[in-house]
Amino acid sequence: MSEEVIHKGLEGVFVTKTSICRVNGEEGRLYYYGYPIEVLEKYSSFEETSYLLLYGHLPNRVELDDFTVKMRKSRKISPPILDMIRSFPRESHPMELLQSSINFLSGYVDHKIEHSAYCNCRQTLHQIAQLPTIIAAFHRIKNGQESIAPRDDLNHGANFLYMLRGVAPDREEGEIMDKCLILHAEHGLNASTFTARVVASSLSTCYCSISAAIGSLYGSLHGGANEKVVSMLKEIDSVNDVRPFLEEASRTRRKIMGMGHRVYKAMDPRAVLMEGYLKTLSAKKGNSVNYNMLKEIQKVFREMMDEKEKAIYPNVDFFSGAVYDLMDIPSSLFTPIFAMARAPGWLSHILEQRQDNRIFRPKALFEGPLDREFIPIENR
Ligand SMILES: CC(C)(COP(=O)(O)OP(=O)(O)OC[C@H]1O[C@@H](n2cnc3c(N)ncnc32)[C@H](O)[C@@H]1OP(=O)(O)O)[C@@H](O)C(=O)NCCC(=O)NCCS
Repeated sequence: MSEEVIHKGLEGVFVTKTSICRVNGEEGRLYYYGYPIEVLEKYSSFEETSYLLLYGHLPNRVELDDFTVKMRKSRKISPPILDMIRSFPRESHPMELLQSSINFLSGYVDHKIEHSAYCNCRQTLHQIAQLPTIIAAFHRIKNGQESIAPRDDLNHGANFLYMLRGVAPDREEGEIMDKCLILHAEHGLNASTFTARVVASSLSTCYCSISAAIGSLYGSLHGGANEKVVSMLKEIDSVNDVRPFLEEASRTRRKIMGMGHRVYKAMDPRAVLMEGYLKTLSAKKGNSVNYNMLKEIQKVFREMMDEKEKAIYPNVDFFSGAVYDLMDIPSSLFTPIFAMARAPGWLSHILEQRQDNRIFRPKALFEGPLDREFIPIENR
């Protein structure tokens, strides 16, 4: 690489080899450890997919049973963590609470095992298991309700809905929530995952790495587009207003939320699956308003992009916000849900980073003045 070339946003720069995730942006394909996302979505659970991401292979029956028991036993948060959630400023965004709570969690683990530079992330399942409990507890406490202890007879997604609502979802809704988490579990070297690897590369703990990754995900250029899709739908208001809205957006060069992707130049395969959940839930709840509007946006936007010959298609966020909305999940929890789903992906990358580690240390091209005269303060 030439010394003077600056790769803004590191676009096109390879910084490592990986076996975890393959995103084929041209054909709209996504694989976790070689398994197509459609196959995992159909046959796997979030717990099994987490095992795959932590160990690099699918578990056999005994391995899955052991892992599931361990995950479910780790869901409960200890009283000091609950106290910390109760005392956290209620006006804060749940992502700020989430980031702080990871480091708080780290104070309550076995220091000998988990604080060493090579702590085994597979031992620290509560980083995956407890995020939903923390998010649900904060949400309820913020709204003046008591937090609800997790249940160990429900899958990861269903248990989250239970802790949020106080009532277990029916089987179908619990399954859909669990599958949404599978779709968000991993997606290659995006900003938050890169952040996790950078922190891990200094031989810091997996707690500090995950907390940094959460900070990165919080930014509006990374997590959060699905929240904006839902507010865009409110702004458009009805199917008949879609075309004028898109024409106006095109005139003013306003971006359509949930459309486009740095890597995908075809339909994001996760969006295809998300659309299926939205269709199912819309029929089940007798409310297709958002679904109909999104389909109209997709159709009219496609016509406009075909005219301009641009390969801009729906990404995962195009349908996901509307799915969560139909499950009565408030939009402030959309990014925290993304974080709790991505925890196994981040841990997977931290483990891979440690296998062949070198500390990250890129360069910046210096442009400022040198050898400046230090003027005493009374003369400045
Ligand atoms: C995801 C995203 C940030 C990718 O950004 P990127 O690879 O840097 O692409 P750019 O923002 O440079 O866009 C390239 C071109 O496509 C256009 N474009 C990209 N996304 C667009 C969108 N959602 N609506 C309208 N036009 C879009 C840009 O205006 C630009 O056009 P130009 O070449 O005429 O200037 C971008 O598509 C976006 O902002 N999408 C909306 C937010 C979103 O849904 N984010 C979730 C991502 S999973």
